[in-house]
Amino acid sequence: MNTETVLQVDHVSFRYEKENVLEDVTFSVPKGAFLGLVGPNGSGKSTLLKCILGLLKPQNGSISLFGTPIAAFKEWHRVGFVSQKANSFNTGFPATVYEVVASGLTAKLGLFRFLKEKEKQAVREAIAAVGMSEFANQNIGELSGGQQQRVFIARAIVSNPELLILDEPTVGVDVQHVQNFYNMLDELNQRLGITLILVTHDIGTITEKVTHVACLNKHLYFHGKAAEFAELQEHDFSTFYGHHLHVLSHQH
Ligand SMILES: Nc1ncnc2c1ncn2[C@@H]1O[C@H](COP(=O)(O)OP(=O)(O)OP(=O)(O)O)[C@@H](O)[C@H]1O
Ligand SMILES: [Mg+2]
Repeated sequence: MNTETVLQVDHVSFRYEKENVLEDVTFSVPKGAFLGLVGPNGSGKSTLLKCILGLLKPQNGSISLFGTPIAAFKEWHRVGFVSQKANSFNTGFPATVYEVVASGLTAKLGLFRFLKEKEKQAVREAIAAVGMSEFANQNIGELSGGQQQRVFIARAIVSNPELLILDEPTVGVDVQHVQNFYNMLDELNQRLGITLILVTHDIGTITEKVTHVACLNKHLYFHGKAAEFAELQEHDFSTFYGHHLHVLSHQH
């Protein structure tokens, strides 16, 4: 494997109980890629992410991050993660945007440690990168779901990860803001050079945003460049999803 491969998933199978939830999944993610991971509900997307993060151990196959098998991988600061249920703070939660983002550093440095000026700067930059500077001193609970999601992305990028994994970040983000949201991800990918893995159901939009696509439904049905994915016939998707699905084309 060359050093430019950020993630390598090799013949991975995983089961919680009797039945496999992931079966013989193989793909890799090159440095700088923006991978869209799509698949119906219950297709194993979150499970696959948990395997990649070392939270679940596949019964078969192997996973490497930055060329190191995850059993031996220790540099977790290189990987950022925003979970599917991150945006569920209620209005009473007593922390500001700044504090929530700073906690992405203190988790590493130890709680109740004062941040050095350089770290404070990193917090401010992460908040700016997701376009939330004007809300820095606001309580996280007073923000909308989509704004909260941005804050959690800032929290995940404050420690400068090289790989950022997002599990359905656009749930709860309205159509009008989804586009802004993808533009923000573009920035992280292209300006900061962060390799992205994005789980989404938004198949139509992602094909023009991402560089690579992986379609999962226990097996990996497709993995390749976004352009090849866009060329697939619509009926390929209906067999994949088990029902009719319109794939909107945004090509001009
Ligand atoms: N902790 C668990 N114990 C047992 N089965 C589980 C567990 N978590 C998930 N599953 C099952 O594994 C399968 C895959 O779930 P997973 O959460 O990975 O799907 P998903 O693709 O992320 O779905 P969604 O789009 O709804 O988020 C489902 O059938 C689910 O019921
Ligand atoms: Mg999921």
